[in-house]
Amino acid sequence: ESTLGAAAAQSGRYFGVAVAANRLSDSTYATIAAREFNSVTAENEMKIDATEPQRGQFSFTAADRVYNWAVQNGKKVRGHTLAWHSQQPGWMQSLNGSALRQAMIDHINGVMSHYKGKITQWDVVNEAFADGSSGARRDSNLQRTGNDWIEVAFRTARAADPSAKLCYNDYNVEDWTWAKTQAVYAMVRDFKQRGVPIDCVGFQSHFNSGSPYNSNFRTTLQNFAALGVDVAVTELDIQGAPASTYAGVVNDCLAVSRCLGVTVWGVRDSDSWRSEQTPLLFNNDGSKKPAYTAVLNAL
Ligand code: XIL
Repeated sequence: ESTLGAAAAQSGRYFGVAVAANRLSDSTYATIAAREFNSVTAENEMKIDATEPQRGQFSFTAADRVYNWAVQNGKKVRGHTLAWHSQQPGWMQSLNGSALRQAMIDHINGVMSHYKGKITQWDVVNEAFADGSSGARRDSNLQRTGNDWIEVAFRTARAADPSAKLCYNDYNVEDWTWAKTQAVYAMVRDFKQRGVPIDCVGFQSHFNSGSPYNSNFRTTLQNFAALGVDVAVTELDIQGAPASTYAGVVNDCLAVSRCLGVTVWGVRDSDSWRSEQTPLLFNNDGSKKPAYTAVLNAL
């Protein structure tokens, strides 16, 4: 196959990309994104601050720009993200307790009803666990509303759009030996045992010298899948973009039948949130990097 998306489709998977609405007018960017990928995640446009800038006043202008571009170009769309401690609008940052809990529920309902039936996977909850060795929840205004906030978010999401796969998404959960990985694993196991509606786990996979790729990532994906959820690589970028590491991640996904696909977190290095790490598959001029060829060959 000659593109990443077509190659991934041979095994029933997708190869996706994070798209920024304000870059779609860049023809080099839009040409590569349209040609190579068959799934799209909005890099920022579906986040809480973008979609509900004032309480109860939803705004989908930028989100719909990404969504419509994706659908017009034949791609499916991952929704990102509904409940998160970061990129909250000011009004939400200042809420707590039952008022914040209700605002979270209203936000999930407002965004999911706008896209009802149109989103394949939603990152319902993002980054709810702490880094380091504690295995604890991350302290946040949402966590302080009560430990059940995550399952409330998933139950709300299931009712709002029963057709979407509902994912928990996080970083530093790729290495099976990390305490954070074990903590998320225990939560998913508990949710499955108690019937809390969760369908998938997203592994962001922002690999760098501080959080390096380890080949036990495949074990992590297999162990989560064995709990009865799908898995996905949702925000892949790798410092320095070593071809062998990119191929390793792709092969890990391909080795797990419940791995739905891989999404890279941007098109060219210059589009990356970590552009100084040159972590993506395309050079700034739009040419393909060695990692691109390694990924295409692995798929
Ligand atoms: C990042 C975007 O890439 C940046 O443009 C923005 O300034 C901050 O957020 N984990 C996530 C993503 O779930 O939403 C983040 O995206 C990267 C880390």
